Amino acid sequence: MDGKRVKDSQVTLHNLMLPHHANPMGNIHGGVIMKLVDEAGGLCAIRHAQSQAVTVAIDSMTFHSAVRVGEVLTLEASLNWVGRSSMEAGVRVTAENPITGECTHTNSAFLVYVALDENRRPVEVPPLILETDEERRRWAEAKVRQQRRLSRQQEKKK
Ligand SMILES: CC(C)(COP(=O)(O)OP(=O)(O)OC[C@H]1O[C@@H](n2cnc3c(N)ncnc32)[C@H](O)[C@@H]1OP(=O)(O)O)[C@@H](O)C(=O)NCCC(=O)NCCS
Repeated sequence: MDGKRVKDSQVTLHNLMLPHHANPMGNIHGGVIMKLVDEAGGLCAIRHAQSQAVTVAIDSMTFHSAVRVGEVLTLEASLNWVGRSSMEAGVRVTAENPITGECTHTNSAFLVYVALDENRRPVEVPPLILETDEERRRWAEAKVRQQRRLSRQQEKKK
């Protein structure tokens, strides 16, 4: 199977935050942001695999600062690592105040997806072609995280 470059599946989504996304304090619900993060990472995985993909793990999701109604969220998703059928995506979220132009880094997350065939069984994905030192660093870090995730899963099964 031919490999695909990281940039071939990278995703950038923009979303204007409206009153129905907010809690009574006027901050955007964390769950709304998590859904958008999962969509961005999932789209990245589907693009790479060229098949359906499901979320198997949300490894970590940090909330650095609150997002307010009227701000524009930008979600940048990129594949860090691929296994046989699994893929780790990293998603970075920034919020822009479109009036002042001020941009804040609000969230980061790592998510793992599994590519599925037409019978909804895990299916092999193309190798990931790494072109930059940054991509090689992300691969190495993601590989360690994947080993930890699988060890944790094994521990839970005991
Ligand atoms: C994802 C799913 C198909 C995997 O099925 P499975 O029988 O566990 O399949 P496998 O054991 O062959 O694992 C498939 C891959 O997932 C990886 N994986 C499984 N559990 C994992 C976890 N907790 N964290 C990271 N990777 C995991 C495996 O390492 C394997 O990777 P590889 O093919 O690259 O080696 C199944 O768990 C599932 O359907 N889960 C529900 C998904 C879902 O509904 N998500 C929410 C909505 S999208």
